[in-house]
Amino acid sequence: MKKTVATFKSAKENGEKLTMLTAYDYSTAKLIDEAGVDSILVGDSLGMVMLGYEDTVSVTMEDMIHHTKAVTRGAKNALVVADMPFMSYQTSVYDAVVNAGRLLKEGRAQAVKLEGGQEFCEHIAAIVKASIPVVAHIGMTPQSINAYGGFKVQGKSVEAANKIIEDAKAVEKAGAFAVVLECVPAKLAEIISKTVSIPTIGIGAGAGCDGQVLVYQDMLGMYSDFTPKFVKKYCSLGETMTAAFKGYIEDVKNGSFPEEKHTFTIADDVLSKLY
Ligand code: KIV
Repeated sequence: MKKTVATFKSAKENGEKLTMLTAYDYSTAKLIDEAGVDSILVGDSLGMVMLGYEDTVSVTMEDMIHHTKAVTRGAKNALVVADMPFMSYQTSVYDAVVNAGRLLKEGRAQAVKLEGGQEFCEHIAAIVKASIPVVAHIGMTPQSINAYGGFKVQGKSVEAANKIIEDAKAVEKAGAFAVVLECVPAKLAEIISKTVSIPTIGIGAGAGCDGQVLVYQDMLGMYSDFTPKFVKKYCSLGETMTAAFKGYIEDVKNGSFPEEKHTFTIADDVLSKLY
């Protein structure tokens, strides 16, 4: 059955953990969906894991719509959330509503996610007012990498931790139906999860969150450029893929692929008339 924002609400009320994974294409979305995940995030992490940029800053609305369309065709049951890329909402409340609308109208996402707390509550409220569900994203927000000077854990001082607590309360008040907590101390994430009534989805935020999200290439061991401390690798698919690619190259070079069973036949009487 199709998961909705109501699934998130009832999971929090019943103390059931929520699962979210990223996906950026039809085939992977279909596999993740069939595995029974609650939600698929078309993350702007696609800039790094799919497009090879060193951060998420260069991702465009066109990139997000293109990949969201593919994911929504594959996800029959999971709630699909699409990321609002850098500069698609920071510029104005108007831009925020228009671009959130495009992710639903053109991408067919069911919800959008945007980075930022108190400073973007006006944007969140306006998007929600347009009947577009919003997931907020606070703590370490990768689109701000140039302001942070690198991907760093956030909320370690009293002031920084209090700011994140206030951010969580503010995005809840603005109407977000869930909030991603990225790279914050586990005990802080636990306090926030007990403070707000919307589900917290953690990434590098410990087990006290109401749900977890991971980038699928990280958990499958497919992205070797950088593996954050918080990632659990469930397999080494990158190694399996490389071995398969090498097997194919060897088979083609030595003539053992294709075999007869991989080929199509032609009738002898047709063949005899060809030359
Ligand atoms: O873009 C993304 O994949 C994300 C997750 C890491 C939460 O925002």
